[in-house]
Amino acid sequence: MSQRERNGSKNSGQKEWAVGARVLAAIVMIVLVVLFYPASEPPVVIPKIIDTEEGGAERWYTAEQVVQGEKLFAQNCAACHGKNAEATSEWRKTDDSGNYPPPPLNGTAHAWHHPLSVLRETIQQGGVPLGGVMPGFSDKLSVQETDTVIAWFQSLWPDELYQAWYRMEKESQ
Ligand code: HEC
Repeated sequence: MSQRERNGSKNSGQKEWAVGARVLAAIVMIVLVVLFYPASEPPVVIPKIIDTEEGGAERWYTAEQVVQGEKLFAQNCAACHGKNAEATSEWRKTDDSGNYPPPPLNGTAHAWHHPLSVLRETIQQGGVPLGGVMPGFSDKLSVQETDTVIAWFQSLWPDELYQAWYRMEKESQ
């Protein structure tokens, strides 16, 4: 093989590699878009709990917090999120102006993907900093009060979901 041929085959090898890398990058992009584009989000899947202790993790909140949270939720959140935190079943669909509706917080949507710190922040600051429309409540609810509201809607979550959330919460710390 002459020097030129050898260089030629080396170049074509590099080219194939470059094409392969681009195809791979495109596939990764598509997967990321599919995974993170809210409108095409796959249905909620509850991950399998692998390492729960006996009987799973205890709830982090007290019964008193749930009672207080229920009242505060009715006063501040129910108008949009529904009396039982069930609104809106079509939470993946944007309205005409491209905004998402208030999602259910009762465990049927994806509030359980967020650690406590993110839930707290969302409620305190609202959705506007993230391009949403939910108003912030930092002027109406203290952090402690916000936590009671979270306690209340988490009390609606089935234990399996709570355990999945708790594992994610622990990993986020
Ligand atoms: C004016 C209507 C409105 C009110 C009142 C409201 N929300 Fe929301 N909320 C929304 C909308 C709309 C979204 C979707 C994100 C966005 O647009 O900001 C949302 C999103 C959320 C999320 C994120 C859920 C997820 O799955 O990511 C949480 C948590 C939440 N709201 C809790 C509350 C709590 C708790 C209150 C009461 C203290 C409350 N909201 C009051 C409209 C409202």
